[in-house]
Amino acid sequence: MAVTLHKQANCGFVMLNSPPVNAINQKMREDLIDAVTWAESEGLERVILSGMGRSFAAGADTKEFDHPAISPHLPDVVNRIETSTVPWIAAIHGTALGGGGELALGCQYRIARADATIGFPEVILGLVPGAGATQRLPRLVGLAEALKLIPTGKTISGKAAMAIGLVNAIDDDPVAAAKLIDQKILSEAVPLSLMKAGTDKTVSYDTARQLAIRRMRGQEAPLTAISLLETAQTATFDDGMQKERNAFLALRASPQARALRHIFFAERAAKKPPKAIETQKPTLKPLNHVIVIGGGTMGSGIAYAFLNANIRVTILESDDAGMQRANTAIDTIISASLASGHIDQQAATDRRNLLKVMMAQPDSDAGKRRNDDLTNVDLVIEAVFEDLAIKKEILQAIEPALDPNAIIATNTSYLDVNKLAACLDNPSRFVGLHFFAPAHIMKLLEIVKGSETSPVALAMGYAVAKSLGKMPVVAGVCDGFIGNRILAALREAADATLMDGSTPAEIDRAMVGFGYAMGPYETQDLSGLDIAHANRRRLDPSRDPSRRYIPIADCLVTENRLGKKTGAGWYHYPDENKTVDPTVEDIIRREAEAANIKRRHFSSDEIQQRLLLAMINEAANILHEGIATSAADIDLVLVHGYGFPRWRGGLMHYADQLGASLIMAELTKLCDEDPIFWQPSRLIVDCAKTRQNFASYNK
Ligand code: 3HC
Ligand code: NAI
Repeated sequence: MAVTLHKQANCGFVMLNSPPVNAINQKMREDLIDAVTWAESEGLERVILSGMGRSFAAGADTKEFDHPAISPHLPDVVNRIETSTVPWIAAIHGTALGGGGELALGCQYRIARADATIGFPEVILGLVPGAGATQRLPRLVGLAEALKLIPTGKTISGKAAMAIGLVNAIDDDPVAAAKLIDQKILSEAVPLSLMKAGTDKTVSYDTARQLAIRRMRGQEAPLTAISLLETAQTATFDDGMQKERNAFLALRASPQARALRHIFFAERAAKKPPKAIETQKPTLKPLNHVIVIGGGTMGSGIAYAFLNANIRVTILESDDAGMQRANTAIDTIISASLASGHIDQQAATDRRNLLKVMMAQPDSDAGKRRNDDLTNVDLVIEAVFEDLAIKKEILQAIEPALDPNAIIATNTSYLDVNKLAACLDNPSRFVGLHFFAPAHIMKLLEIVKGSETSPVALAMGYAVAKSLGKMPVVAGVCDGFIGNRILAALREAADATLMDGSTPAEIDRAMVGFGYAMGPYETQDLSGLDIAHANRRRLDPSRDPSRRYIPIADCLVTENRLGKKTGAGWYHYPDENKTVDPTVEDIIRREAEAANIKRRHFSSDEIQQRLLLAMINEAANILHEGIATSAADIDLVLVHGYGFPRWRGGLMHYADQLGASLIMAELTKLCDEDPIFWQPSRLIVDCAKTRQNFASYNK
C-alpha cells in the first residue's frame, strides 16, 4: 500500500507511505482516490492527511516523467479530495513540495510544523505545477505571493507559509492539532476552486518576467508559470486548470525538463560514496579541526567554508604579511556575510572564534607554538602557490607533526597528485580536494583519487563535501583533472577561433547565447590572465611541438593586461563595466598576420559548435581514460564548477542529444583544418560505431 488508512471514532487518518520522501506515483494516486471513497462510505467527519517518515510528500514521482502519464492523474486526485463530502486536513511535516503542496491545497485546512518546507519547485525541474497550484495558490495567498513562489521555485518554512496564509495554523504535532479543529470551521471552508483569484494592482507580470529572464536565463518553465498565474486572474478555474495541464504535459516532455531531471538524479547519485568506500566502510572521526596551509585566495575561502560548518580551522601562513592577509580576507568574507544577512552578529563572532592564523615554519619563534595544535587535527589542506617543489617541501615538513590518522589533501588545480603523495611517508593518507573560487560559495568539490589514496582518505573527501554542502565528484590524476582539462580544451579552441577571424566579444556573445552567464574571455578577465599564463609556462617543456600554439594571451600578459584587476585584459575596464578594446583586436590581427593566417568571419553557431566540440572531445577522452567515472559526473563538474547551463543537462548530456555519429562527422570535417587538435577521441569513434550513448558508457 502506498497509502495507509485507519480511523478513530469519526476521524479518518490517511498516511502517505512511500519511503523515503513519499513521492507521489501512480499507485499512491490510486490509493488516494480509494481513500476518498473509503472516508465517504464510512461516513467520517474529517480526514487527516499526513506523510510517513521524514516528509509529507516531496511531489510527483519524477521517475514517471520519462513515460506517458497514466491515470488517475494528480489534478483529478486533488479535485476528488477537494470536492469530497468529507473535509480533508493536511498535516504537514518535513517537505510538502510540488504535487505534495498541491495535495495540501486540495484540503479544506492546512496545519504545518514551523520547520516544514513548503513550495512548488517544479520550475527547477523545467516544469510548471501540474495539479492545480498555479490556479489554487493565487486564490489562497494572492497573486503577489504566488508570483514570488511558483516562477522561482522558492520554498518557504511552515512559519513563513503561515505568514502569507498558505497554511492555516502552525503546530509541532500537526496530526494531533488537526483532530482538535472545530468541525464548523471545516464545514464552512470554501474550496479554493470556488474562490476568485482577484486583482492586485501592485503585481506587474512584466517585472516578474524580466526577473525570471535574468535569474533563470534561457529557461521556458518560469515564463510559462507566470503566464499561468496571469490566467488565474483572467480565466475561470476550469479553463485555468486545462491550460495548466496542457503546459505541464508539454514541458514534461521537453528537452529542458529532461536535462534538468538528469542533473537532479545525477546530483543524488554523486552524493553516494563509491564502491571502495561502501565495501570497506572506513571509520572516520567527525571533522573537528582542519589545518589550511596558505591563506590566500583559495585558502581563506576554504577556511571560511569550514568555519561556516562550525568546524575549527587553523590557517598556517609563511610570514606576518601572509597572516595579516589571511585575517583580512576572512574578516572581509565574514563582514559580507553579515551585511547580506546570511549570518547574524553572534554567528560572525562564533566563526571568528573558531579560527586561528599562525606561522607555518616550525623553526620560527611563532611557529614553535603551532605543533601543539597539529596533534589534534583531522585534515590538512594545502593551498599554497601552484608549485610542485614548494608544495612538496610543505607537505614533507608537516607530515611528521601530525597524528598518523590525519588526512592530508592538496587543492592543486593541475599538479600531479601522485607526485605530491610520493613525497610523504604514508602516501595513502593523501587525496586531492580541488575547491573552486570562491571556495565558500562554489558547490563543486573534485575529489582527486591518486594511485595510493586509501578508502579512508577518499571517505574524508565525501565527509568534507557533506559537511560543507558541496557536490563531490571523484576524478583520477591527470593535468587539470576533469574540469580544468576541459576548460583548457575550450580555451584552446576559442584562441584558435580568435586567431582565425573572430573577436573576444563575438566569442563571448556566442557562448552567452548558448546559455553561459559569461563568455570565456570575460571570465578570464575576472579570474586573471596570469594564472593561465603561469600554467602555459609550466607546460612548455612537455607541449607537443607540432601542436598549434596561439600566442595572443601571452601578448596580453606581456603588456600587463592581466584582466579586470589591472584595468585591462581581453576587454578594457574604465570602470566596473567592460568595453571592447581595439588594442586587443590589433594584437589579434598582428599575430594572425605574422602567422600568415587569412582571417574569416565565424557565425555565432560556428563558434558555439567549435568550442563545444572541443570540450566534448576532451571530455570523451577523460571518460575513456577513466579520469571520470561516468558521463554524469562530467555533467556535474561543468554545471557546478564552470557555469555550463544546467538546463542543457551538462556537457555529456548535451553531447548525447547531438549523438556520437554527428559529433564524429563534425570533428572529422574540422580535422582538415587541424588534424591534431580535432582528432576524435577513441570513445567518440566507438560510440559512433556502436550507436552507444555516452551516458551508458561504463569503463
Ligand atoms: N520523485 C522521485 N524521487 C524523488 C523525488 C521525487 N519528486 N524527490 C526525491 N526523490 C528521491 C531521490 O532521488 C532520492 O532517491 P535515492 O535515494 O534513490 O537517490 C531520495 O528520494 C531521497 O532524496 P534526497 O537524497 O534528495 O533527500 P534529501 O533529504 O536531501 O532531499 C527533497 C529531499 C528536498 C525532497 C529533495 O529530494 C527534493 O528536492 N526533491 C524534489 C522535489 C521536487 O522537485 N518536487 C516537485 C516534483 S514535480 C511535481 O510535483 C509535479 C506536480 O506539480 C504534478
Ligand atoms: P594565492 O597566491 O592567493 O595564495 C597562496 C598563499 O600561500 C599565499 O597567501 C602565500 O603567502 C601562502 N604561502 C606560500 N608559501 C607558503 C608556505 N610555505 N607556508 C604557508 N603559506 C604559504 O594562491 P591561490 O590562488 O589561493 O592558489 C592556491 C592553490 O589553490 C594553488 O595550488 C592553486 O592552483 C589552487 N587553486 C586556485 C584557484 C583560483 O581560482 N585561484 C582555484 C582552485 C585551485
